[in-house]
Amino acid sequence: MVQWYPGHMAKALREMEEKVKLVDLIMVLLDARIPYSSLNPKLKAMFNNKKILYIFTKVDKADKTLTDKWIMHYSVNGNKAIAVDARDKKTVKIVEKEALELMKEKRAKDAAKGLKPRPIRTMIVGIPNVGKSTLINTLCGKKVAVVGDKPGVTKSQQWTRINQTLELLDTPGVLWPKFDDEKVGLNLAITGAIKADILRNDDICIYFLSFLKEYYPDAIKNRYNIEILDDLNLTLVKIGESLHFYLGNKDVDIDKTALYILQEYRNDYLGKMTLDRL
Ligand code: G4P
Repeated sequence: MVQWYPGHMAKALREMEEKVKLVDLIMVLLDARIPYSSLNPKLKAMFNNKKILYIFTKVDKADKTLTDKWIMHYSVNGNKAIAVDARDKKTVKIVEKEALELMKEKRAKDAAKGLKPRPIRTMIVGIPNVGKSTLINTLCGKKVAVVGDKPGVTKSQQWTRINQTLELLDTPGVLWPKFDDEKVGLNLAITGAIKADILRNDDICIYFLSFLKEYYPDAIKNRYNIEILDDLNLTLVKIGESLHFYLGNKDVDIDKTALYILQEYRNDYLGKMTLDRL
């Protein structure tokens, strides 16, 4: 897990501010399953009057009804949200169209001043694991070496020409998610956005079961043929029994069971879900 110290955070923010000055449009990547929890609220202040295209990644893992609602929620104040599978080549056209639409006014003004249209300069920003490298590779149509999730690591900036319309800064902005809200931390842990060395698997899983009980009550029944009981700890034990996950002393291995359920969710065996609700 990347450790964020106030000094690191300040440095990452400063570097991001420098990059932001270079671009016309910022692409803020959010995980479609957690469009609230994967946003670092510090970003907004930094972007002040830049146009923002919110790109929800991993739309293939999220609940469509909720994705539509979150798109509406973020498509305000002249900004726009879209939801994509960052691995899909079709994403290039979608991003290009939205970028042009967002920059339409500015480009019309430039044209009126007799300025030749130039490609829209853009950069990608997001928390670790949200799909920044994947989207950069998809947009560029090739493997681009990205200095990964090491906030504070600098490299000379390079523009990559995606097509006639778009130029992309090849180093994404990386920010750690905001953590003070316990629910946000749990959502990030469930999706695997953070390696939870602070949180225990059984605590994460119990929270996940309570969420499923409320919003996707059939998910566990369909997969393990077990009802989610009011007693969530007992539910976890029953799932462990059904999987034959035992410790040497014949007790159910709760940690193994919890991790297994979480991994099954991350690997799409429990269905498409959105954890952040509006
Ligand atoms: P990052 O640069 O922001 O850190 O993220 P990166 O592109 O490395 O993506 C993290 C993982 O998420 C990768 O899986 C990647 O394939 C997956 N991913 C990115 N975008 C999408 C998407 O739109 N849909 C789906 N289904 N997956 C996406 P990985 O290499 O298998 O890593 P991991 O999941 O095993 O950690």
